[in-house]
Amino acid sequence: MKVLSVASECAPFVKTGGLADVVGALPKALAPLGVSMRVLLPGYPALGPLLKEGKTLWEAEHLPGGPARLVSVESGGIDLLLLDAPDLYDRPGNIYLNGDGQDWSDNAQRFAALSMVAAKVATGALADWQPDLVHLHDWQAGLTAAYLHQSENPPPCITTIHNIAFQGLFDPILMTDLSLSSALYTSEGIEYFGRISFLKAGLVYADRITTVSPTYAAELMQPEFGMGLEGLLSARSADLSGILNGIDLDVWDPENDPALAAPYSVKRLKPKAENKAAVLRRFGLQPGGDGPLFCVISRLTTQKGLDLLLDALPALVSRGARLAVLGSGDAGLEAGFVSAAHRYPGSVGVIIGYDEPLSHLMQGGSDAIVIPSRFEPCGLTQLYGLRYGTLPVVARTGGLADTVIDANEAARVAGCATGVQFAPVTADALEQALMRTCDLYAQPREWAGMMRRAMRHPVGWDTSAAAYHQIYADVLSTRAAQE
Ligand code: ADP
Ligand code: GLC
Repeated sequence: MKVLSVASECAPFVKTGGLADVVGALPKALAPLGVSMRVLLPGYPALGPLLKEGKTLWEAEHLPGGPARLVSVESGGIDLLLLDAPDLYDRPGNIYLNGDGQDWSDNAQRFAALSMVAAKVATGALADWQPDLVHLHDWQAGLTAAYLHQSENPPPCITTIHNIAFQGLFDPILMTDLSLSSALYTSEGIEYFGRISFLKAGLVYADRITTVSPTYAAELMQPEFGMGLEGLLSARSADLSGILNGIDLDVWDPENDPALAAPYSVKRLKPKAENKAAVLRRFGLQPGGDGPLFCVISRLTTQKGLDLLLDALPALVSRGARLAVLGSGDAGLEAGFVSAAHRYPGSVGVIIGYDEPLSHLMQGGSDAIVIPSRFEPCGLTQLYGLRYGTLPVVARTGGLADTVIDANEAARVAGCATGVQFAPVTADALEQALMRTCDLYAQPREWAGMMRRAMRHPVGWDTSAAAYHQIYADVLSTRAAQE
């Protein structure tokens, strides 16, 4: 089965969040099931060496934003198709934002071009390869479904929602420039409160829709989470599935992780302490102490609920706990954590920035990871936490609710707890959860049991890869029956 995957980021080449991890993991996860996947990405500067090395398959003169070529190259076991369009993608800094932190003013053209090329490849533009189906990720790939809808005999397509909060909304004046038929600009089509929604295009014209956890799939049909698309998603509920993300067990392996100070395993937990010492040093935190070391590894945005953690800090510090924060994002939150580090020297340490190896060391060296998200489609850092015996303290929402088993009385008696959950998502409830975590940490046998259980919890791709494969197979057989 040949699948074209279309996305704006893909680890390890270019990453701003979990989307990249998932797009990068799927080809490897699906290969054993007989899926041959090619990943189409914009040719950002980070991919410069691969653009030089690759083979030009196709050239286009009339994409929005000037000439472009499509380059094929294999790297890290992933079969890439890179859209080399320097006017659109060859620019420094963040792939979505300019130096002032604003969306690039031509994002509509940048991701429409990606989607146009995806639709061309899907409908036979390449001499020797045509996919049986197309798998779109998030709004940046969404218009592909609309372009396919406008084509003759398009292959089926599936859209995965990684985060409905990002919709790709643009002025309808662009319809013609983006080669979209005006007939699509209706409330049943791609119109969303007076604008074009790239994500909505991906939802309306896809054969099937998936999202990244069963709880988020249910939440998306509610007004609190659906961002105005809850009606559309409810109407398509028979076509909507929630499939949990997995993680790459080779990249995230405490027994074999080059970023750790000392490897450890479920059978040999002791060396985790060396990683803890390394994290404490790196964040300027005091060694010793009775309380656990909590960490945060996150985009600092409203979604992630970290303002609530700022409110809960006095209680956390007074219990002898320490906190190491790695993240970047909203200026207000960055400033809040930096000033907390000044207020609580030795107890709160903050590094503003993005640092992949440090994120591994923190998973290896912390006792617990805090994820108080207001919504979380899946979340990956709690999965890394489970794998590294770094117990997740999470808001009961989306994928966090689906992957962490709360250490309530019943779960403790049954011996199945792997972390702590809280609801509602308020500073008070978070504070109570942190205190509960400190209580558990004060019982070493209980804590070690939870660590071992967490580390054994299945977080790989096996089950979810099979679920995607089943959807691909369903879509193809439905299409074959219609023909
Ligand atoms: P989201 O995609 O909403 O940001 P996820 O939990 O799905 O949330 O994925 C976040 C990914 O980005 C994880 O792989 C996490 O380790 C990584 N990450 C987030 N912030 C940082 C950071 N400051 N440094 C290194 N890695 C980070
Ligand atoms: C989004 C979501 C996150 C999810 C990731 C990968 O960025 O915010 O919850 O894990 O996509 O699907």
